Amino acid sequence: MTVLIAFATVEGQTAKIARFINNVAKNAGFNTKLINTDEMSSHVSLDDVVKIVLLAPVHERRHPESFEAFVASNRDALMKRKSLVLSVGLKAAFASGREEARDYLNEMLMRTGFEPDATALVAGAVKPENYGYFEREILKHVVLLGRKIDPQDGVREFTDWDELTSIVIGFLGGSGRANQP
Ligand SMILES: Cc1cc2nc3c(=O)[nH]c(=O)nc-3n(C[C@H](O)[C@H](O)[C@H](O)COP(=O)(O)O)c2cc1C
Repeated sequence: MTVLIAFATVEGQTAKIARFINNVAKNAGFNTKLINTDEMSSHVSLDDVVKIVLLAPVHERRHPESFEAFVASNRDALMKRKSLVLSVGLKAAFASGREEARDYLNEMLMRTGFEPDATALVAGAVKPENYGYFEREILKHVVLLGRKIDPQDGVREFTDWDELTSIVIGFLGGSGRANQP
């Protein structure tokens, strides 16, 4: 019983979330396959894979191209398994931003033609050490507009790990070893 966890990341937070999900799945008794869609050839072997978690961050309203290409090119095989799609962003961290965050996710699903069994919005992080002038300006004046958060103030993680654990456990269900001798 293998769970495929396929992710893209730009600044590392989604990679951290993917590793966390990998551990949650292993602790629930599943085998796991963790892949970064930036390091992937377009087709992936899904032998033994029973469930799929796909996750990617939002940058300027879009998920990374490599992620969308991966989902679109493996769509038919991915859709034969139970799937959960997680969209990671900062708009998702605030009640007033969640409608917009939902739009990014729906637009990505429309573009790729992928129809998951479940979706969720996950709050990401502010990581100033990774930003140049352009990224700082976008964060301050667009993504975090009206919030009392300054990208210069250091790392700020909004990801709710307990909530994420519940989402993943809820999706995976019982033990991956339940049917094994
Ligand atoms: C240049 C830039 C643009 C961003 N644009 C968006 C956005 O449009 N919507 C959003 O919700 N979050 C946006 N974010 C926030 C990221 O989604 C968030 O920092 C996330 O944790 C990044 O994940 P990663 O570290 O895996 O790349 C942006 C971040 C940066 C640096």
